[in-house]
Amino acid sequence: MNTLLSDTYKQVFHVILPEAMERLITDQSPEAIADASTVYNMFVEGVLAETGYFSFYKSLEESGIMPGLLEGIGNLKRDESRHIGYETFLLQRLICEHPHLLDDVIMKRMAVMAPLALRIVEEGFVDGDLDAFGAEPDEVMNFALKQLQVRMDVLSRAKGKKLDEIYSASNHDLSLI
Ligand SMILES: [Fe+2]
Repeated sequence: MNTLLSDTYKQVFHVILPEAMERLITDQSPEAIADASTVYNMFVEGVLAETGYFSFYKSLEESGIMPGLLEGIGNLKRDESRHIGYETFLLQRLICEHPHLLDDVIMKRMAVMAPLALRIVEEGFVDGDLDAFGAEPDEVMNFALKQLQVRMDVLSRAKGKKLDEIYSASNHDLSLI
């Protein structure tokens, strides 16, 4: 057993994420797609991966070491925001076409995932001082909270919008860049 993985981590990556994704093999309903996208794109990518890249990038930048790795992490960050941008667009489109999804599926899933995601970020801090890459806990936690808030705001605003408004939104409107 790998003791580096916490129970919270295992609950997200070994149970919730595979269940939500594997459901899509037999169920491609708007509910199943919205649920899978909330787990994967809003949390695993939108909060956990982006927070990880943020702290990794920041520590490398501040310490001035490994410029090649810094550049690579910078590219990963840019790539990640592209897929999250697409999936935010997909979720907005689903909410627009099926408004009940926001409360019945997405917000319900968010309520389960938010404390888990924040606990995983918290567990990344060594002895409560610094995270594994040397970043300050407050700064990293604030970044994770901001990510959560931005995702929720964008999705909440999608309810009641017309489809062409969703299609004409820029990356700036999505608060992604
Ligand atoms: Fe991704």
